[in-house]
Amino acid sequence: MNSVDPAGIDTPIGYVDLGRARANAQRAADYAAQHGFAWRPHIKTHKSLEIARMQLDAGARGLTVATLREAEVMSTLTSDLLLAYPPVGAAKLERLIRLPASLDLKVALDSAEVLESVADAAAAAGRVIGILVEQDVGLGRVGVQTSAEVVRLATLASSSRGVEFRGLMFYPGHIRMQQDEQADPLAHVYERLTDTYTALDAADLGPEIVSGGSTPTLWHSHEFPGLTEIRSGSCIFFDREGLAVGVASHDDLAYTVLATVVSTAVPGHAVVDSGSKALAKEGRGADGGFGVLFDHPEVEVVSLSEEHGVLDLSRTAWRPEIGDCVRIVPNHVCVSVNLHEALLARDGDAHSMLALEGMGRGPWTG
Ligand SMILES: Cc1ncc(COP(=O)(O)O)c(C=O)c1O
Repeated sequence: MNSVDPAGIDTPIGYVDLGRARANAQRAADYAAQHGFAWRPHIKTHKSLEIARMQLDAGARGLTVATLREAEVMSTLTSDLLLAYPPVGAAKLERLIRLPASLDLKVALDSAEVLESVADAAAAAGRVIGILVEQDVGLGRVGVQTSAEVVRLATLASSSRGVEFRGLMFYPGHIRMQQDEQADPLAHVYERLTDTYTALDAADLGPEIVSGGSTPTLWHSHEFPGLTEIRSGSCIFFDREGLAVGVASHDDLAYTVLATVVSTAVPGHAVVDSGSKALAKEGRGADGGFGVLFDHPEVEVVSLSEEHGVLDLSRTAWRPEIGDCVRIVPNHVCVSVNLHEALLARDGDAHSMLALEGMGRGPWTG
């Protein structure tokens, strides 16, 4: 471990508690195992080989990625990879085909265009890539809209050289309300899935893989019928949204942004050196603001400039001084991690720098 003295580390910087991350990984892996499906974590949350290794050690079966860079990095660690994003364009197809031939590679997509281009590139390279057809279950982002379209793409995949139909993928990213209010939208997803299984069975195309899951619905995953794996990713660190939804407690938070108080000149506020370029300007899943202080949860980051984060002191007796160091829990962990070149990691009393090898879009050269 490349040991560092945290006192010498400048702020702002993302800060990971490896002990908590390890416990979070074990809980997700154990939960999945208990219910008879796999955990294939989405590594976009951390982009780090060390954290991915931790997830695999805890029992994760394979990994999920979104970018070709992430795929290149993570294929050095696992032989079971899902690219949960349609690879469009010659540059991405070329990188896809260059991934190790030994990899059990699956690609999720929702169009005949992408399916045919993946099939052509794979057939030309003499390899076979697994296809998961993505169905929209309510987010309205990507995914075919009907079970008939799933069957149409599954049929195309099973009759094309270079690819094979492996199953179905869905992402319930629209379900972000508190856990005990999720019953109705979850029931709607169950209905769509059941309809799709019936249509696939009728076409003799029963899916080997049904890949679902998210962090807000994590502990409800066993209620999805027919699921074979979950891709929950942010649950490795959790964030303010995880607290708001109720899937995590304060003791589960494994990522914060270390920041320094740089101004107290404006009454009622303190300003830290962590702005939108360290926290990300994402309101998702929170009642307001862009984060809260880990040690003073009543203190919210109420506004952000690029390098300034404004703390609202109206609901606290705490009075910070210039130079004080604080820890901020961001609303959405993945987009905050993505803003840092490396993270400071703590394991017990030891500190080290955590490399984020999957960061960026360029080819991974190892
Ligand atoms: C396709 C897909 N799968 C899985 C995930 C992981 O979701 P979460 O971060 O809620 O765990 C995401 C997150 O954006 C996603 O887009």
